[in-house]
Amino acid sequence: MSKAHNILVVDDELNIRRVLSAMLKRDGYSVRAAADGAAAMAELKLRPFDVVITDLKMPRIGGLALLEHILEHYPDTPVIIITAHGTIDGAVDALKRGAFDFITKPYEQDAIRHAVAKAIRTRALNQATLHAGSATDDKPDSASRGRYGIIGATDRMQAIFNIIDKVASQPSTVLITGESGTGKELIAKALHEYSDRKSAPFIKINCAAIPKDLMESELFGHEKGAFTGADHAKPGRFELAHGGTLFLDEIGEIPMEMQVKLLRALQESEFERVGGIKTVQVSVRLVAATNRNLQEAIEAGAFREDLYYRLNVVPIHLPPLRERSQDVEPLTRHFIQKYNDRLQKNVEDVTPEALQTLCNYHWPGNIRELENVMERMLLFVDSDVIDADDLPADLREKAGDVSAMPIPPIHLPAAADGGLKEAIKETTMRLEREYIIQALAETNQNVTQAAKLLKISRKSLQNKMKEFGLRD
Ligand SMILES: Nc1ncnc2c1ncn2[C@@H]1O[C@H](COP(=O)(O)OP(=O)(O)OP(=O)(O)O)[C@@H](O)[C@H]1O
Ligand SMILES: [Mg+2]
Repeated sequence: MSKAHNILVVDDELNIRRVLSAMLKRDGYSVRAAADGAAAMAELKLRPFDVVITDLKMPRIGGLALLEHILEHYPDTPVIIITAHGTIDGAVDALKRGAFDFITKPYEQDAIRHAVAKAIRTRALNQATLHAGSATDDKPDSASRGRYGIIGATDRMQAIFNIIDKVASQPSTVLITGESGTGKELIAKALHEYSDRKSAPFIKINCAAIPKDLMESELFGHEKGAFTGADHAKPGRFELAHGGTLFLDEIGEIPMEMQVKLLRALQESEFERVGGIKTVQVSVRLVAATNRNLQEAIEAGAFREDLYYRLNVVPIHLPPLRERSQDVEPLTRHFIQKYNDRLQKNVEDVTPEALQTLCNYHWPGNIRELENVMERMLLFVDSDVIDADDLPADLREKAGDVSAMPIPPIHLPAAADGGLKEAIKETTMRLEREYIIQALAETNQNVTQAAKLLKISRKSLQNKMKEFGLRD
């Protein structure tokens, strides 16, 4: 018989500790209990645990601090959070930090059973993939394929998948933020697809693309004759999304007057069509997205704070691709596959050098830009494997790929004078000077930042600037 899995139950209420422990023991687990975070840390020192279940609010050391401790010292141990609060705010926060799952009180015993079983399965799976190691290196392994057709191997993306799991079926409004091309729309669709609203419509409205005067009628519909050109009555997107999801894209661009009307519709779950007197009631799950910093917009008086709070119930922030460069590899392979299929090509892979360049690049257009690059590569490259040389020159240059740098014109007499050595030295210095000028330009002449960019000390940058006549 296989060894029983060890579970640590942490709760300050004796009764809950007892009930949970008894249930888990009946299920064949070996269970220890602790009354608060500090006691739990002591237990963790004594023996390994397969799963930790902890309450959020406890005296001395609470659930979040315990979670941080476990993430740091026992990163393989999944943590399930139990929260007493009606709101899921604290729990979502815990998921973002890296909790495996959360359960709200009062809970069904089966909910705990499922969460524990899932944690143990996932942990075993992770360990299997870890141990399989390089044997699977040539294939995109399933762990990095992410979920919902969304690629994401990094912890930050995994945390987002956890949030989607937990909130997809909740009615709470989700606000997705992130730079252009980070996958906001993809997440919005996943929230719909994985909710119990999936058979009802997913309706999108791009707030930036709709003229100001038409916005109200687009959202809420209009009655016949409401304005010139309104020949017949028309339902708005809210009505069309009834039972399903309404995705308000580029919510940061919505005009002030509309913000008031939207807020009212959200708070009261009802509205009137333009030119109508009948109140319309709908059940709609709202997901909003923006690449603007709404907090700054609020400070600038361009966005209503009350609307922001109404939208920002479950925040999901998508990090830019340059902050999750481990995702570049699985994404690259994903797009190779996608465009192999679409373009009937047989590209197998990218070389390690090409991958390195892709990882070094800072991707201002994020995943959309990577996707476009890969599509272009598959269109134009004839070989089976994409090499660094195949990548667009400007991308290689910005990624610091030296071989992509234009070679400055060679002055043969100078080279001949001092021989090859001198010529190389001179060329290197000229390149060095070019790099420094560029780094200074990119950082607005900020020496400290430029030094960071060049990965040299501030002092040696200053010396070099002197040497190259870039300062007195
Ligand atoms: N994690 C991912 N895995 C696979 N494909 C992705 C991922 N993220 C984004 N993409 C792809 O990248 C492209 C851009 O994604 P999306 O349109 O969702 O970005 P966005 O954040 O809405 O951008 P914008 O702010 O410009 O509207 C899409 O083709 C999408 O399928
Ligand atoms: Mg978008």
